[in-house]
Amino acid sequence: MNLKPLTINGKTVRFPIIQGGMGIRISLSKLAKACMNSGIVATISAAQVGFLKKGFRQNPLETNKVALKEEISEIRRVSPKGILGVNLMHAINDFDKYASFLATQDIDFIVSGAGLPLDLPEYLKGSNVKGAFIISSARAAKIMLRSWDRRYQYMPAFIVCEGPLAGGHLGFSKEDFEKGNIEDLESIIITTKEIIKPFEEKYGISIPVIAAGGIHDGHDMAKMLKVGSDGVQIATRFIATHECDASDEYKEMIINAKEEDIVRVDSPAGLPGRAVRNYLTKTLENHNIKVSYCVNCLKTCKKVGIPYCITEQLGNSSNGDNKGLIFTGAKAHLIKKMDYVDNIVKQIIFECKKDLSMAGGK
Ligand SMILES: Cc1cc2nc3c(=O)[nH]c(=O)nc-3n(C[C@H](O)[C@H](O)[C@H](O)COP(=O)(O)O)c2cc1C
Repeated sequence: MNLKPLTINGKTVRFPIIQGGMGIRISLSKLAKACMNSGIVATISAAQVGFLKKGFRQNPLETNKVALKEEISEIRRVSPKGILGVNLMHAINDFDKYASFLATQDIDFIVSGAGLPLDLPEYLKGSNVKGAFIISSARAAKIMLRSWDRRYQYMPAFIVCEGPLAGGHLGFSKEDFEKGNIEDLESIIITTKEIIKPFEEKYGISIPVIAAGGIHDGHDMAKMLKVGSDGVQIATRFIATHECDASDEYKEMIINAKEEDIVRVDSPAGLPGRAVRNYLTKTLENHNIKVSYCVNCLKTCKKVGIPYCITEQLGNSSNGDNKGLIFTGAKAHLIKKMDYVDNIVKQIIFECKKDLSMAGGK
């Protein structure tokens, strides 16, 4: 018996794993190519891909579009047939322009979170690129499905349920965390599966539900498949790989992080995020960090009195500055060494199959 493969936009991968998009410049073409070669779905993050390019500060939209095009064509040169998506946060300015641009590119899906992308299907009209979304509660899934159904008669290619152990921006408020008002990932999966049933029936389709946040190994993956998820999305585990696009300094921060070094930080996006404790997080305990420039990145950023600039600090860290913002998931402390993507995928599949009592393990 084998794991059920995952089909997105008419293409199928061998293993039901999506490599999660990581910005800024953490998951680009190098990681994507390795993931696609290993039989899983790859996602690049659209967040400020042009950060290192000339002209970025003057015209971030056009510079990012050029950089995205380059990354996508490099991936397609090596993997013309694999499943490739782009993660586009709804909280960014010019979401409409990025989505319309990405709808013309050689990718399979746009997956959007950090807010509710109620308008995403608008930009996908007439395109072969499919839309998908990330939510952190069944309630949010219901709002999204109802809205896409009413406004566009459109259903997502898949839904990512992101739990409280994820990396990057988290879909739970600071108050939710403080009050312990947090639903665990298994429960989000179970309730979301219920919510989607009438929509699946109406459209005569099945919508894959993907579990994300704290999936470190095959045992975690098996737990999610057992409660009904159709696959998992994994991000943090792929950072300390030879193929990941992050700087060596970023990877070292992940490898060296102990459990107590993984902390929550407020983001100027108005959402909590999770990061490795370092100069930035320690400084923020006492005062804000001076902002050097603004590229008007987030709709939700107040620009004045913010703790730090997220583009500046994430961009710097991906470029080798370990004093910048080092986004991570909650299980980075379990990562002890650099590895190759293919080894990690094989190990996760082996452990998962074993837990699900399936034969083989290759
Ligand atoms: C360094 C880092 C950057 C991330 N950047 C983004 C992003 O740009 N957009 C997004 O929607 N999610 C982002 N995420 C979330 C991941 O795509 C993923 O859903 C989540 O981290 C899964 O949990 P895991 O890291 O425990 O595997 C990021 C996560 C990490 C660790």
